[in-house]
Amino acid sequence: MNSNMPPQISTFAADVDNLYFLLLWSSLISAVIMIGAMIYFVLKYNRKSPNDKTAYISHNAILEFLWSFIPLVLFMSVFVWGWVVYYKQRNAPEGAMEVHVTGRQWLWEFEYKNGKKMTNELHVPVGVPVKLLMTSADVIHSFYVPSFRQKQDVVPGMYSTTWFEAKEKGIYQVFCTEFCGTNHSAMLAKVHVVDQADFDKWMGADPNAGKSLAERGADLYKVKGCNACHSIDGSKIIGPTFKGAWGREGQYADGSKGTVDENYIRESILNPQAKLVAGYPPNMPSFQGVLNDEEIKSIIEFMKIVK
Ligand code: CUA
Repeated sequence: MNSNMPPQISTFAADVDNLYFLLLWSSLISAVIMIGAMIYFVLKYNRKSPNDKTAYISHNAILEFLWSFIPLVLFMSVFVWGWVVYYKQRNAPEGAMEVHVTGRQWLWEFEYKNGKKMTNELHVPVGVPVKLLMTSADVIHSFYVPSFRQKQDVVPGMYSTTWFEAKEKGIYQVFCTEFCGTNHSAMLAKVHVVDQADFDKWMGADPNAGKSLAERGADLYKVKGCNACHSIDGSKIIGPTFKGAWGREGQYADGSKGTVDENYIRESILNPQAKLVAGYPPNMPSFQGVLNDEEIKSIIEFMKIVK
């Protein structure tokens, strides 16, 4: 019946689907009964001659009781069922693992209690309740994992929470489901549901071990969302391509000229509107606080090798 739905990965996914299908089927059956009766009456009581008169009918107590009572029972059961599922979705169990989530144009940041920080990648152990403490750095976003049947607005200036417990290992898609600007549709992340042992190993591992600055930069290019606007193959997405950008003479929107060097890249990451390349919209958000000095250095080294 639900073959067209995403897999039911969270503990409450099946509840949400069952309620949804109750609503769908009861609406469908009601519509068929109502429209069917309407068509039947139109044909049966169609005026056959100009002298046809409508019979005088004052009321029918049983009929009126039934058409009030049956919908009442139906609506109340939907309400109670909906409330039970909603309550379960809204209230994380005691002792759930907490992860901080920050939405910003146009990426998701995840920070664990031990300070480990990830962009667009959330790793969680299977079978463990995870509570997300979420806020936004700029505008309203919305955190949505279809396979978890779970969706929550992420609002600047306050925390909102949501939780889930994944029943199966796998990689699941996160969407931003609140229109938040140019790159809203590219504001994607993945939830990696793994064994507790793999999770612990991942938590302790340094993802940069043994990697050159340029290799770290290549990773950051993807996980920090640079790739949403800057290609590395020369194609124009939203911003200028990184291909051959290093050392290029640039013409800026204010008429000035300059060379793409370390200082230009650093400034463009932290204060993107300062020297906007002519012909491009001022869409890039500041990455102040998103990329630290170490990471900016890595991205600079990466840009040097993208030719
Ligand atoms: Cu963030 Cu849409």
